[in-house]
Amino acid sequence: MGGDDPAAILVLGGGLMGLAVAHALARRGCTVQVLSRRRSEAAGFVAAGMLAPHAEGLQGPLLTLGQRSLALVPEWVARIEADSGLPCGLRPCGIVVPFATAADRDGFATAPFGEPLDRHGLERELPGLAPRWTAGLLFRQDGQIDNRRQLMRALERACSRLGVKFLEGAEVEGLDRAGDGALQGVRLRTAEGDRHTLAARRAVLACGAWSARLLPELPVFPVKGQMLSLQAPRQALRRVVFGPGTYLVPREDGLVVVGATSEPEAGFSEGLTPAGQRQLQAGLADLLPEAAGWPPMERWWGFRPCTPDEAPLLGESPVPGLWLATGHHRNGVLLAAITAERLGAALAPGTGAPAAAAALAPFAWNRFRGQEPQPSVRQP
Ligand code: GLY
Repeated sequence: MGGDDPAAILVLGGGLMGLAVAHALARRGCTVQVLSRRRSEAAGFVAAGMLAPHAEGLQGPLLTLGQRSLALVPEWVARIEADSGLPCGLRPCGIVVPFATAADRDGFATAPFGEPLDRHGLERELPGLAPRWTAGLLFRQDGQIDNRRQLMRALERACSRLGVKFLEGAEVEGLDRAGDGALQGVRLRTAEGDRHTLAARRAVLACGAWSARLLPELPVFPVKGQMLSLQAPRQALRRVVFGPGTYLVPREDGLVVVGATSEPEAGFSEGLTPAGQRQLQAGLADLLPEAAGWPPMERWWGFRPCTPDEAPLLGESPVPGLWLATGHHRNGVLLAAITAERLGAALAPGTGAPAAAAALAPFAWNRFRGQEPQPSVRQP
C-alpha cells in the first residue's frame, strides 16, 4: 500500500465494519487493502443479523443513527448484491416485542414507533407465544439480514470484485507514527510469523472488541454473547420475537437464530458455558415453549465491541490519519450501512468530505471525557 497515494486507505479489521467501509471506499475509487486477523471471530459472523433500532429500544442520537441506517439498508444491500452477484438474505419481516403488561408496553422507549398489540394481536403475529405475554409492540419497519451465511460472503466478494486487496491472518501489532504523531504505517505480524511495517498515511480502525489493544485511549471493551440455532418447521415463525434477554430470528429456510447472553464480566474468555446455554434455553421456553422441541443445529459465542454509552466510535481518532469505525455493541449489523456511507464520504476524495466528517461528531471517540460510564454497562 503506497504511503503517498492520496486515495490509498488501509482497513484494519476484516469483519462486517471493515468490509462495509472497504466496499464503500472502493466504490468511491479508493485503493483499499484490508488486514484481517481471523475471520471467524468477527462480530459480523456471530451476530443474529437484526435490523432493530425500535425493538432494541434505542434512544437519542443512537436511535436517530439507527433509523437512518435502517432507511439506507435496502439500497446498500442492492449495491452489495449487484457488485457481488450474491444474495444477502435481507428480510423485512417486522419484529414483535412482547410485554407482560400493557403498562410495560406503553412505557417502552420506542413505543410511539410501534403498533400496539393485545393478547389477541400477539397470538395472530406469534402463534404459540407463552400465555404470560399479554401485550406487545409490532415494529413492521424492523427486520433482519442473514449476516452469517450470506451478507458477509457477499460483502467479501463485492470487495474483491472492486479490487480490494486482502491480507488474511495479519495481526496489526502497533501503529507507526511520524514525529508530529500522524500515522505513517502499521506494524504487523503475518500468518507465517514475519513482522514488518506497512506504510499508510490513512487507515480505518475496525477491530471491534479488540480496538483498544491497538489504541488504548479508545473506551471499547468486550461484551460476550452466546447463541444457538434451531431448525424449526418452515414458516413456524414469521416475525422476529424480541423478548427481554432472549430473541428468536427466523431465517427464510426455517433456521432460527436464538440469542443472546450479555456477559461483560466474561472479558475475552472464549467458549460456551453451561450457565449461558441454560439461560438461552430458559429464555426460549419462556417465550415460545414449542421451540424447546426444535432440534438444535449450532452453538457459538462472540464479543460485542461496547463503549460506555453503547454507541459507536466514528470519525477521527487521536492519531491523525487514523479513522474509527468501531464500538457498535449490539447494533453492528444495523449500523453497517450508515457507517460505510459516512466513512466513505468522509475519507474518499470529494467536496462532501468535511461535511461528512462533521456529521460524525456525536460519535467522537472522546465524548466521554469527564463522564461516568452509564450504569447499565459494567466494565470488565
Ligand atoms: N443485536 C443483538 C445482540 O447483540 O445480542
